[in-house]
Amino acid sequence: MIVKNGNIFHLQGKNTSYMFSVNESGDLVHLYYGKKLRDKKYDWYIRGNSALSSCDASGKSLDAIPQEYPAYGYTDLKMPAYEVLNKNGNTVSRLTFKSYDIVDDIHPVDGMPYLLKGDMRPQTLYITLEDKNAGIEAILSYTVFDNYDIIARNVRIKNISGTKMTVQRAYSLALEVPKSGYKAVYLNGGWGNERNIKETEITEGIKLDISVARGASSHDINPFVMVADKDADEGSGAVYSAVLIYSGNHSTTVESDRYGNIRLLQGINPFGFAWELEDGEVFETPQSILTYSEQGYGGISRELHDVFRNNLSRSKWAKKERPILINNWEATYFDFDEEKLLSIARCAKEQGMDLFVLDDGWFGVRDNDRCSLGDWFVNRDKIPSGIDGLAKKVNDLGLRFGLWFEPEAINPDSKLYRAHPDWIIRVPGMEPSLGRYEYLLDLAKDEVCDYIINAVSDILRTANVGYVKWDMNRVMTDMPYPGYNHKFYLGFYRVMSTICTSFPDVLFEGCASGGGRFDAGVLAYMPQIWTSDNSDAVKRLQIQYGTSLAYPISSISAHVTAVPNHQNGRVTSLKTRGDIAQCGVFGYELDITKMTEDELKELREQITDCKKLRPLMLNGDFYRLKNPFEGNICAWEMAAKDKSEAYLMCAKVLSEAHEREKAIKLCGLSADADYLDTYTNTVYGGDELMYKGIVPKFGMYDFATYTVHLVKIEN
Ligand code: GLA
Repeated sequence: MIVKNGNIFHLQGKNTSYMFSVNESGDLVHLYYGKKLRDKKYDWYIRGNSALSSCDASGKSLDAIPQEYPAYGYTDLKMPAYEVLNKNGNTVSRLTFKSYDIVDDIHPVDGMPYLLKGDMRPQTLYITLEDKNAGIEAILSYTVFDNYDIIARNVRIKNISGTKMTVQRAYSLALEVPKSGYKAVYLNGGWGNERNIKETEITEGIKLDISVARGASSHDINPFVMVADKDADEGSGAVYSAVLIYSGNHSTTVESDRYGNIRLLQGINPFGFAWELEDGEVFETPQSILTYSEQGYGGISRELHDVFRNNLSRSKWAKKERPILINNWEATYFDFDEEKLLSIARCAKEQGMDLFVLDDGWFGVRDNDRCSLGDWFVNRDKIPSGIDGLAKKVNDLGLRFGLWFEPEAINPDSKLYRAHPDWIIRVPGMEPSLGRYEYLLDLAKDEVCDYIINAVSDILRTANVGYVKWDMNRVMTDMPYPGYNHKFYLGFYRVMSTICTSFPDVLFEGCASGGGRFDAGVLAYMPQIWTSDNSDAVKRLQIQYGTSLAYPISSISAHVTAVPNHQNGRVTSLKTRGDIAQCGVFGYELDITKMTEDELKELREQITDCKKLRPLMLNGDFYRLKNPFEGNICAWEMAAKDKSEAYLMCAKVLSEAHEREKAIKLCGLSADADYLDTYTNTVYGGDELMYKGIVPKFGMYDFATYTVHLVKIEN
């Protein structure tokens, strides 16, 4: 609910209140973000006087006032939310209140994904600010949902100057937290090592600048941050979070000022960015999602999981049980023919899987990664039946058929490049740089986007393809002008939205050299994402645990692969690989035709288990119980929202002599109900499981797992 009481705007979510006011000078002053307050007329006053700072004629210094969308250079000298080079040749500005509007709907961001209405009752507050002298109008949008603790924000900057101007930075949000003693938590990594959890204390200065200019949201830094009370942990403590619905270069900064107050900014990375606006034109930022919880990091995650599952995805698959797939990549790499593929598919069907995915190497003359990207025509030497024929054969076995594409990329050794050398991203006069022997296509050009849409659509139209793995395997370089990266992503979102709308039944899975573009912008179109090329079960404990901070388990694609693991050589049991992959979108990626009958029997049991657990994994509340970044044990739990069922997975990395395992306490159960562990037929009390906990019975070997599947016993 959004109400205006006097000069105060009060935005209420399920358990939270967010408040700001317009002061006598017209500045938008942030007042409060935290636990829900009653809606009444509050008489709060922010002094904002600062004898030692610059001030306006009334003695006010914006430096000392928490603001909703601050500028640099008038009386505030901190990192600004926006910066516009105006007709006067400077970037100094002061936006003041002009008008407001409240609508009973979400705010549809132009050309980019945003939170949808779903079955919620959202309201959006629009605040129009203006600076007549600089010729800028800014419309801030705030969307709240009655049943969430979420505020979706974005900004439109309009040129009202009568001439050209340049937006040099435009963050999606600013949040000023009036307190010190906070830490920031964020996700960093690299290829095969995505989304490690990092914590840093916020002391004076710009203590966090997690900005990325690698072209995509990247393996390196995820567009997500939590600003938490220094004592907050998984289960308790006050935490704010911000996550951006965007896939390009992004930036999140946290600055602590001379008063110990914190300013958080999130949006498009200003580095390498500039956007020219003619008179009357508008620049719109991506949407950024704010959350507040007093249930620690876990409270933030469960809120984001719900919002992303229910209100982000355009795909009908978001809320559907996902097919258990077999992917041929780690089974064959480029070395396959139709018969080999069908033998894997046949075996997969016999074990109870749902979907066969043909990965890279089916098109052009691609027998290695040096050629043919762009030539989306089947290689009949490898697949004589064509994609339509192969899809039919796979369908006849009783499986859906899936196909890999990397539509945004092109090899110089391709027919497409020879026909359209001008379609790549490049700087005139410079030799373009290569990444994995490829260039990126110039998605800022409409004709290039149309080519991609047509090339992919032609195949989806002629063959019965039920799933697409949409890959993108390189960083973006050679950008021809500032702001290019954003232009590319506007093209990317147009392509995704057109294809996903035309093929609503197809399940799309995102991928970028593993998890190099695991973000809410991609999730809006593709409800699951290949989490990492590193499929080692032990490393996956950390990668999946870290990813779950912001993103739902139903988006985290996880496969059982061969041992020794292809990325790090580790040997783990089939049980361990299966147990860890179950907490994700489950699948296989190895040559199952080479497995023994005993192994296949175990595989069938995993598949039966997955089918039983799938609804829970899709809809439940996720609890992280033991942090694999902090010790030898990892534990996580998925509990049904109605407390009728739960699944606990515990993993021990190294075996120790004389080890005394500590009890793991479960969450989200009914204390006064009993639960049956369906694996061992043991009955536990809900109180016992939550208050005393359960001691995992690990085997005496490294990389052991222990799982419990609890079903409430109805009296
Ligand atoms: C990327 C993906 C892999 C696989 C290969 C194919 O590395 O992350 O899963 O699809 O490309 O070339």
